[in-house]
Amino acid sequence: MPRKIPEVIFFHTSNQHKLNEASQAMSNLHIKIRSLKDISSRISVIEPQGESCAHVAHSKITQVLDLIEDKLNGNWLMVEDSGLFVNALGGFPGVYSSYVHTTIGVKGIVKLLEGNGDKSAQYISSISFWDGKRIQSVEGYCKGRISLELKGDAGFGYDPIFIPEAGNGQTFSEMTLMEKTALSHRTMALKRMVEKLNFPSM
Ligand code: IMP
Repeated sequence: MPRKIPEVIFFHTSNQHKLNEASQAMSNLHIKIRSLKDISSRISVIEPQGESCAHVAHSKITQVLDLIEDKLNGNWLMVEDSGLFVNALGGFPGVYSSYVHTTIGVKGIVKLLEGNGDKSAQYISSISFWDGKRIQSVEGYCKGRISLELKGDAGFGYDPIFIPEAGNGQTFSEMTLMEKTALSHRTMALKRMVEKLNFPSM
């Protein structure tokens, strides 16, 4: 039996790009994605280090629920953790993607890959969501390769050097929000969430 579709899912994130992507992906189902900041302005959680994206997302949603479950008024909540996993670097930067982006940056990743024949990589997005009753977890993937040349201005993070396998050779940063959302790991994870709950498909 398909479940009743929620009108709103609150997304605990400080990343406007992630919010825009999730909103775009869920618009087909007329589900509004809203920032959790709309109902609770300051929520501080501890991000566990060195584990999988799934572990981080689960830990964060547990902490957020402990703090604000009463304010959700039965609405849904989601938390996402993601990263870029470069095969020739043994999956680096992976769960350290955010930190590495602010330290060596995309140019640092390019340097590490110069002269290496294998440029394959994938983004992973892990979403933990609360449906008013329990926490569930899903994961989405986007396979691609690293471009040694930074291209495009859109998106965030590693998008200027990530060329998705299912695309037309452009980096994510060269794509519109709609084009990136059609292929992104985040959308794939949201699709799993929708399937898991037996909604009409996206
Ligand atoms: P977190 O999930 O907020 O811990 O951050 C994940 C990090 O991975 C981001 O800061 C980005 O550097 C990178 N990342 C995750 N998803 C994307 C994406 O869709 N585009 C570009 N970079 C991403």
